Amino acid sequence: MTVPRDFQEPPRSRPDLVIGREDLFTSAREQLGRGGSVLLHGPAGIGKSTVLRALAADYAGAARTVLRCSATESESHLPFLALADLFGLVLDEVSGALPAAQRTALESALTGRGESTLQRDGLALRLAVLSALRALAAKGPVLVVADDLQWLDAASAELLGFAARRLGDTPVQMLCAVRTEGQEYDRHLRASPPDTLAVRLGPLSRTQVSALLDHRGYTPLSRSTIRDIHRTSGGNPLFALELGRALAESPTRPRPGEPLPVPTSLRALVLSRLEMLSDEARRTLLVASAGARPTLALLHAAGREHAEAETAQAAALGLLATEGEGPAVRFAHPLISAALYAEAPARERRAVHAALSTAASDPIERARHLALATTGTDPEVAARLAEAAALARDRGAPSVAASLGLLAARHTPADSTPGPDERRLQAAEDAITAGEADLARDIARDVLTRATVPAERVRAWMVVIEAAGQALGDVDAVFPQVLADAGDDPRLLALVHYQLAWRGLVVEGDFAEARQEAAHAAELAARGKDRRTELMALSFQASTETLMGHPDAPATVKRALKEPQDPYVACHHNGAGSARFRWLIMSDQLPEARATITALLREVRRRGMVESEVHFLRFLAETELRSGHCGRALDLARESLRLARDSGIGEGASAMLTSLAEASAGDVDRALALAREAADHAEVDGDQMYLSRALAALGYAQLVAGDPAATVRSLRRVRELEQGLGITDPARGRWHGDLAEALVRVGEPGEAQDVIDTARVHALRLGRESVLAVLDRAEALVRAARGEHEAALVRLTSVQDRLGRLGYGLEEARAAFALARLRTRTVGLVRTGGTPLPGPASYDEAARLFRRCRALPWLRQVDAAAAAGPAAVEPVSVAPPVALDALEGLASMERQVASLVMEGATNREIAARLFISVKTVEATLTRVYRKLGIRSRVDIVRLAAGRRTT
Ligand SMILES: Nc1ncnc2c1ncn2[C@@H]1O[C@H](COP(=O)(O)OP(=O)(O)OP(=O)(O)O)[C@@H](O)[C@H]1O
Ligand SMILES: [Mg+2]
Repeated sequence: MTVPRDFQEPPRSRPDLVIGREDLFTSAREQLGRGGSVLLHGPAGIGKSTVLRALAADYAGAARTVLRCSATESESHLPFLALADLFGLVLDEVSGALPAAQRTALESALTGRGESTLQRDGLALRLAVLSALRALAAKGPVLVVADDLQWLDAASAELLGFAARRLGDTPVQMLCAVRTEGQEYDRHLRASPPDTLAVRLGPLSRTQVSALLDHRGYTPLSRSTIRDIHRTSGGNPLFALELGRALAESPTRPRPGEPLPVPTSLRALVLSRLEMLSDEARRTLLVASAGARPTLALLHAAGREHAEAETAQAAALGLLATEGEGPAVRFAHPLISAALYAEAPARERRAVHAALSTAASDPIERARHLALATTGTDPEVAARLAEAAALARDRGAPSVAASLGLLAARHTPADSTPGPDERRLQAAEDAITAGEADLARDIARDVLTRATVPAERVRAWMVVIEAAGQALGDVDAVFPQVLADAGDDPRLLALVHYQLAWRGLVVEGDFAEARQEAAHAAELAARGKDRRTELMALSFQASTETLMGHPDAPATVKRALKEPQDPYVACHHNGAGSARFRWLIMSDQLPEARATITALLREVRRRGMVESEVHFLRFLAETELRSGHCGRALDLARESLRLARDSGIGEGASAMLTSLAEASAGDVDRALALAREAADHAEVDGDQMYLSRALAALGYAQLVAGDPAATVRSLRRVRELEQGLGITDPARGRWHGDLAEALVRVGEPGEAQDVIDTARVHALRLGRESVLAVLDRAEALVRAARGEHEAALVRLTSVQDRLGRLGYGLEEARAAFALARLRTRTVGLVRTGGTPLPGPASYDEAARLFRRCRALPWLRQVDAAAAAGPAAVEPVSVAPPVALDALEGLASMERQVASLVMEGATNREIAARLFISVKTVEATLTRVYRKLGIRSRVDIVRLAAGRRTT
């Protein structure tokens, strides 16, 4: 009797005959046909790989590039193996299209080469995968075929998922299979493109099982036998084939009604076949099952001298696949490898791992085998594992580094240096880098139950604090404990106070406290000779001082920039260079700010520090926008937004800035949409600070769109938000001039003047020159609205000049525009003395300045105004003044609220009319009562009525 070779894949020439699965093929083909992706899932042996192969063969022709990978259990711990499968062959083709830092990151992940001394932030590698896929897709459709996703190494899975979620319309499709028992394919779905169809493979029908057995040569079988096989296998094709084989091999046929002469568990079925192997051959297969990517050469190196003959024997038994080029030794089915390994005695497994710990070529793989070959502690093994962890860290696989570090700790003797807990802490820090905050916290908490050395305890607490991320409020209780642990060691105390500085800013929003803590941390670090912490703390202090308008800011910036420097800190977005930039731009030194940020951007790009790159691109865009280089600002802003979306960092901030740039130089509708998006982001995150920035951008876009009423609505909200947050510095949001201008246009010059007066007090206090100039421009509009044309013209001329000297090109152009409008309107008006007002009524100067800025939306406004002539300049419609003396002492908003009360409006109606919240109406009314010395709204009405009759 010939041994049927069911486990073997059919030779290439004969296409896989797939039985049944018609519906599945129809829907999968449809999905692939319209550009979507497919995820097949189901239990072991149900036929996923079979269907995957058939679909891939079908569909590969439609793709320009097909990238393949297929993982196995024994290699799932090796970082980037799947990635190397996918990109190894196309690396040369794509690497030219990648920015240098990404190329280095990808090369070092795939090959272990590449620059390793730079401290990359891990994002460079993710972006490299994304860019590589985009580069391939630019030449034609890409199909990624991946089998056994459940064994994909974590690092590759993360990268693929990261890219898949961001590919958008890029023509990259994925065709994947994953083994699942229940519905837990969701996890893998998250790693697939958004448009993925998940299909579960169900059992085959009895007719299909019969056809399958027939096709594999198990004939003739009686109907009742087929029924038994179908029932016993549960319609699982792999089980059915194994049962068919067992039956064919058994010397006697069961009589009708007699149960099948086989155990029902597949593992037992597989084992019975393994029994036919010689002991030596089984041992050779065990080495193959324990090693990643086994080859004959690896088996030889692991001491299996007769590997050729033994694998041939196994192939004849259908345990190994015979087909396939290259030196790889492959099992006919993963279950065979699993069963073989599971059945081997522990001692034998250890021996196999020991052999592989020298035979394997990858150092990480060797270290892991060493760990699996070792029981108990062993300093040498621990050191090798720690080295492998460092290597993984360097290649950009911090999660692998963390798990190797934990293995190292387990094998580290208690009394050695570094000790086991020190290694655990390193692993915890790797876990933080990998974004596995829960794991990091668990490790640190565990260490804290034992550790007695203060330095170790503080290090563990730092992990706990960092694992909290922005939610620093959640770890409030930690600070007293960690302070106690730090004792009077200045190095340790410096670390704690640096975190307390962040807490002051993020949790309390208290600049003074944040500044004080940072200063304290810097001083402690200096005493403890911890230069890096000192520099971080000084930079933090400098940034805080800049934001609070503290006079020490420039001096602190200088101190943070003193040598010796730490190159990483120097160009980090929370480092000294960044602090200097903040100070320069807040003090209107635009050329210096540009030079600083340009140099920083170059450096972080070289180093692959993507997070810093996102921020710096935005900073540079902001600098250019202020300088009136609006076209360049728009390019930079769009680039920053693209990078922010790709990396998932700072999207809201980049959208906000891009909105400003679009409104100034691009598409106003896009500006409106981006500002709304940024506002939504902030609202979802509960981030009031950014909500106010986003609404400020929205207000500006609405102003450019010619909708001052909408601007007033948005910016009034900004004013409320900032009041709530206690933000007084008008240079933070720079919206005050826009609100005042919009208020004038909707006929509220009184409120406009209030806005200007309030902002001016703070701008004067903080020395915000450019803000003062913009406020003066707005004030000129208020004056003009009140009929003081001459004063307005004089003021506008000087403001335009001041803004020009400060280098604020766009603001300068806006002043020129305001001037031209005013002149157009005042043509024919005469001075008090009888001479006509000066200046040609021309828009030429404004047009020239806007053109120089590439401020196209503004330029269009100028053209429209020029074409329309004086008639179109909106008349100044001052709201009818509330002529009641009773209300005279009130501020503009208070007066408006009071007069609406007199008309009988409810608070809700007032809120709606004035575009403010009901809360603000209530608060305003309280102030009105106090100022007028009354107690209720009835009194207001009475008061007004009484005065009116007298
Ligand atoms: N529809 C089918 N038609 C013909 N043969 C099939 C079919 N489905 C599965 N088989 C056969 O059953 C066996 C198991 O199938 P396959 O390897 O595709 O399962 P799998 O779902 O990928 O399992 P695993 O989860 O272990 O990877 C193979 O020998 C395959 O040829
Ligand atoms: Mg499979």
